[in-house]
Amino acid sequence: MKIVAVRTHLLEHKLDVAFESASMRFDRRAHVLVEIECDDGTTGWGECLGPARPNAAVVAAYANWLIGENPLENEKIWARLYNALRDQGQRGLTITALSGIDIALWDIKGKRFGVPISTLLGGRFRESVKAYATGSFKRDGVDRVEDNATDVARYWAEGFHATKLKIGFGVEEDLRVVRAAREAVGSDMRIMVDANHGYDAVEAIRFGQAAAELNIDWFEEPVVPEQLAAYREVRARQPIPVAGGETWHTRWGMKEPVETRCVDILQPDLAGVGGFTEAKRVADMAALHGVRVVPHVWGTAVHIAAALQFMASMVPSPVRLNPIEPILEFDRTHNPFRQAIIKTPIEHVNGVVVIPNGPGLGIEINRDALVEFRMGDA
Ligand code: NI
Ligand code: CA
Repeated sequence: MKIVAVRTHLLEHKLDVAFESASMRFDRRAHVLVEIECDDGTTGWGECLGPARPNAAVVAAYANWLIGENPLENEKIWARLYNALRDQGQRGLTITALSGIDIALWDIKGKRFGVPISTLLGGRFRESVKAYATGSFKRDGVDRVEDNATDVARYWAEGFHATKLKIGFGVEEDLRVVRAAREAVGSDMRIMVDANHGYDAVEAIRFGQAAAELNIDWFEEPVVPEQLAAYREVRARQPIPVAGGETWHTRWGMKEPVETRCVDILQPDLAGVGGFTEAKRVADMAALHGVRVVPHVWGTAVHIAAALQFMASMVPSPVRLNPIEPILEFDRTHNPFRQAIIKTPIEHVNGVVVIPNGPGLGIEINRDALVEFRMGDA
C-alpha cells in the first residue's frame, strides 16, 4: 500500500452576523480538510486546526515526503515529517498541518483493517458521549448579557447537560453574563467559561474569585498560552478548576504544563496537537500525572469524528466502577458546511452523541458539499 496523492480542500461560508471571542473576530467560517489517496483506491480524511490557507500550504510542503510511503506506518511518517521541519517548527502550523495528515493516515489504517480508529487505539470504552454546547460568543448588534442567557436556555431545553460561555471582554461585564446565564438555566446545568486567553493574571484571578459562587466547572484559557507561570498563579489564587491546552502542541508542548500543574483539565486538540499518534502519548502523560483530559474540538464533522474516535478509546482515569467520562465539545454557532460535508451528520439527541463505529473515522465524505462550500480566491 502506497500514498499516491495528498490534497487539501479549503471550505468557506461568509457569515451574515459576525461574532467574536476575546481574541478573534469571525466574519466567515473557514476550515481545511486533508485528503490522502492510496494506490489501492483507499482515501483517508483529516482536518487541521487554525487558518485554512496557511495550513494547506504546509500540508503541500509535507506532501513531498509522503508520496510513495506506506500509509500504515504512522509513527515512521510522523517522525519523518516532524524532523523535516523541526528546526523552524516544533509548534504552530507545522504541527497543525501534521495533525491533519496524521488523522487521514489513521482513517486509511482503519479502512484497511475494516475497524474504527478507536479499536486500533486499543478499544472502545464507550459507545456514546455527553456533549456540551459551545456558543455564547459576542455577536454584533445585540446585548451580550441577554443574548448569551437566551442561548444557554435554548441549549438546556435541547437537552445539553453543560455549556461553555465566552468571557474575556472585561471582568464586570463577563460576571453579568455568567450570572444571567446561571439564572436562566438554574442550578442543574453545568457551566464552563472560556476567556480565549483574553485576561491577564490579575483579571483572571479577580474573575475567578467572584464567579466561583456561580458553580463553574472550569475556567478555560484564562491567560496567554506562553505564560505558564501566570497559569499556575491563576490556578493557585482562585477556586475554579483551570483548563487549557488547545494551543500547546505535541508531547513537548504539553510536558511543562502537565508536570508543573498549570491546569486541572488538559484540552489537547486532535487537529492541533499532532493527530492521533501524538494525542495518545499526551493522554497517557496526563494520566501519569493525574491531570484530567477533555479534548478541544472546533471545526467540521471530520474533526468531530476524530475527537469521537479518540474519546471512545480514552482509558478511564482512575479506572473505577463509575468512571469520569470525557465530554464532547459541540459547537452550536452557525456553520452550514460543518455537517454537510459528510453523508450522515453527527448530531446529538438530548445532548448525547453516538460514536460512529464504521471503519476509520466512521464517516463518508459528501464531495458535492466540498464543491458547494469551496473557498473563493479572494
Ligand atoms: Ni449563513
Ligand atoms: Ca477554547
